[in-house]
Amino acid sequence: MTETAAARQSEMTLSDQDRRGLYRTILGRRDVRGQFLPDAIDDGVLARILVAAHHAPSVGFMQPWSFIIIRSPEQRARVKAAFDRANTEAALMFDGERAEKYRALKLEGILDAPVNLCITCDRDRAGPVVLGRTHMAEMDLYSTVCAVENLWLAARAEGLGVGWVSIIEPAALRTILDLPERVVPVAYLCLGKVSHFLAQPELENKGWRKRLPLEELVAFDRFNGPGAAGDEAFIERMRQAQQAAESGELV
Ligand SMILES: Cc1cc2nc3c(=O)[nH]c(=O)nc-3n(C[C@H](O)[C@H](O)[C@H](O)COP(=O)(O)O)c2cc1C
Repeated sequence: MTETAAARQSEMTLSDQDRRGLYRTILGRRDVRGQFLPDAIDDGVLARILVAAHHAPSVGFMQPWSFIIIRSPEQRARVKAAFDRANTEAALMFDGERAEKYRALKLEGILDAPVNLCITCDRDRAGPVVLGRTHMAEMDLYSTVCAVENLWLAARAEGLGVGWVSIIEPAALRTILDLPERVVPVAYLCLGKVSHFLAQPELENKGWRKRLPLEELVAFDRFNGPGAAGDEAFIERMRQAQQAAESGELV
């Protein structure tokens, strides 16, 4: 390792406070729909969170993403109309009490947030044969999702809320945003300052679904593979870590 590389690596050793900050950001990130404020987002902050998104990992270093910043009220109104159409259809897919509960949920902040952002994936960004995408064609889409998560976390660290709106026909987004055929709309996001961040996912607060126990999602050696006797202690550690995280004590 060269001296410069070593120096850089040592700079990257996070202080305990930085490490805690990272976990606090991850655990405190929320999908925001109902708490947006109309205040403008500072250009410097918006630039920084876009840089964070652009530094996401990507298959073959393909960087397949583009970022469409949507501020125009007319464009947002078109997207909101597309959401309303899809949401009416979606509500019909649930039965009885569940449908009633669904209709009561606020599932977007398209007109409330000052900025909307569409993150797209250009499937041809690096030509037809991409290192790492040769056997799993969807890896460019997954890479774009990594950019979304980077942006989401950076926004939370900056005190900004992000809400992902996926209840929209992709074809409607394609028309409204003039997307070429090769470009997939991966994420439509609402972005802005917030009155507050909820402590728990809104869907959990409203009794839609609970966070699952991590230990039920971790297996050994094969799907659903049980742990051996020696794994008990680790499983207990996971249980404790999840409990601590959810009671705000992990960091
Ligand atoms: C791919 C994706 C699509 C989503 N689409 C919507 C959506 O259309 N409307 C909505 O209100 N929330 C949407 N969400 C947010 C989830 O409901 C939210 O992440 C989940 O309930 C957990 O809450 P949290 O993000 O606050 O932890 C989406 C999240 C993801 C990752």
